[in-house]
Amino acid sequence: MKKVLVLYYSQNGQLKAVLESFTSTLEDEKIQVDYRAITPKRKYPFPWPFYEFFDEFPEAVHLDGCEIEELKDLADDYDLIILGYTVWYMAPSISITAFMKSEQAKKVFKDKPVVSVVACRDMWVLAQEKIKVMLQDVGARHMDHVALTDQGGEVVSLVTLPTYMLTGKRKYFSFLPPAGIKQEEIAACDRFGARLNQALKQDKEKGNEAMLKDLGACVVNGKLIATEKIANRSFHIWSKLIKKSGKKYSMGRKVVITIYVAFLLLLIFTVIPLNIIARKILNSFQKEKLKAMEAMYELPSGR
Ligand SMILES: Cc1cc2nc3c(=O)[nH]c(=O)nc-3n(C[C@H](O)[C@H](O)[C@H](O)COP(=O)(O)O)c2cc1C
Repeated sequence: MKKVLVLYYSQNGQLKAVLESFTSTLEDEKIQVDYRAITPKRKYPFPWPFYEFFDEFPEAVHLDGCEIEELKDLADDYDLIILGYTVWYMAPSISITAFMKSEQAKKVFKDKPVVSVVACRDMWVLAQEKIKVMLQDVGARHMDHVALTDQGGEVVSLVTLPTYMLTGKRKYFSFLPPAGIKQEEIAACDRFGARLNQALKQDKEKGNEAMLKDLGACVVNGKLIATEKIANRSFHIWSKLIKKSGKKYSMGRKVVITIYVAFLLLLIFTVIPLNIIARKILNSFQKEKLKAMEAMYELPSGR
């Protein structure tokens, strides 16, 4: 009997649905799958009050983590770990960061093969780089990566995701698609479990080769990488300013958050469209460079 641990934090259940679809074909009489949810001590609200949503920004960006419940009776003899995470402000969600920095993580991940699974709006490349470092720090062997992103593309999801977060309504605008990943894409995640089921029976998790190759596990949109890097830099500057303005949920923070959100909106309506046009022109001259970058960030599983 082989044992697989699914470790995850999913505030609203989308990532959990992805993982359940994934593991629906993985578990059988020879493979046991255990789910363990990471739980923050202070539950995050949903729908998010405006200021609370942005108040989490500095802590997410600076990888501060938060207080989490200890996972009781967590075994450390799993054959494989599936780490499911969502992205909060281009970083792993705060609860996942907290777990990855815990003493428990060091015990459970040590020398274990890991498949990471991300389900987010559309910018996960830099968060995944942070996850890779965290996995390295706890001595895990990162073998595969699966990435799923919201329907509608980069511009539409920039509207649908925040309105969903702030109102709780997935389809706030009748003329736009609902926020989140397409149901068919979630259902199709069973292909990964089926492949892992076979791989575990052949002891492939003990080797160094990715097990989820040629399944469309991970497709990077190279055109987004530069935007992600620019946004990440600005995130670091603003998150420092917000932190300096006061304690969490203080009036000082609210003032700086208000200025920041105004700046963000200005950015969305001016710099981002200009950037998209400039990138389109620039990228047509550097197609090969872009392809190489996509292939690098798609490792280890690839398209
Ligand atoms: C505070 C917060 C910040 C987020 N920031 C990002 C982000 O920077 N990039 C992104 O692609 N998705 C972002 N998301 C969306 C999440 O990654 C995820 O898609 C969403 O929370 C639904 O997942 P769940 O139902 O499993 O909680 C954010 C969500 C929250 C709550």
